[in-house]
Amino acid sequence: MQFTIAIDGPAAAGKGTISKAVAAHYGFAHLDTGLLYRAVGAKTLAGIDVLEAAITLTAEDLTASDLRTPEVAQAASKVAVLADVRAALVDFQIAFARRSGGAVLDGRDIGTVICPRAEAKLFVTASAEVRAARRYLELSQNGHDVTREAVLEDVKARDARDMNRAEAPLKPAEDAVLIDTSDLGIEAAIAAAVAAIDARKG
Ligand code: CDP
Repeated sequence: MQFTIAIDGPAAAGKGTISKAVAAHYGFAHLDTGLLYRAVGAKTLAGIDVLEAAITLTAEDLTASDLRTPEVAQAASKVAVLADVRAALVDFQIAFARRSGGAVLDGRDIGTVICPRAEAKLFVTASAEVRAARRYLELSQNGHDVTREAVLEDVKARDARDMNRAEAPLKPAEDAVLIDTSDLGIEAAIAAAVAAIDARKG
């Protein structure tokens, strides 16, 4: 059985939490595609050529411990504007999406570019302030020395770069179901996602 669930949206909108829960609910595999770009970004920060980093990326690179820092997030969105970098990561994502047993992929361009024929598409969003507040909590709980203002700036800068790039810009697919999590708790957001996917499953 092949069934692809594409979940896109801006930084810190809750895609990761929703995707993991949705994957567990249906027993599907989950790929956080942001990790691919974060791993390439981290390698460039370590001095490796960007295209070399994208072409030679391994599954092991995705388990590096320091991929969730604000510095790596910025580096990720800078390498993500490059067509050659995106092209190097396409095949892996498509193969993952079409694996048997079902797959959930979350990112920026899953429903628009990577899996335009995904059986279900969600676009998860929330106000920049709410997203920054959640990311601030997450980063400070994980021991990162950050300020609320810096996190909000980081989120806004990445959103602008992700939405305005020429290659695979962040935008909802025409047939995506929009879920605004600004006023939703985690359980309500997951329930909204499952309801939208069930409607597509028929
Ligand atoms: O977790 P968060 O929403 O903050 O970011 P992420 O999903 O880990 O993605 C980090 C960066 O990778 C984004 O800001 C995008 O620039 C890029 N990205 C992308 O271009 N395409 C994807 N499918 C996933 C991430």
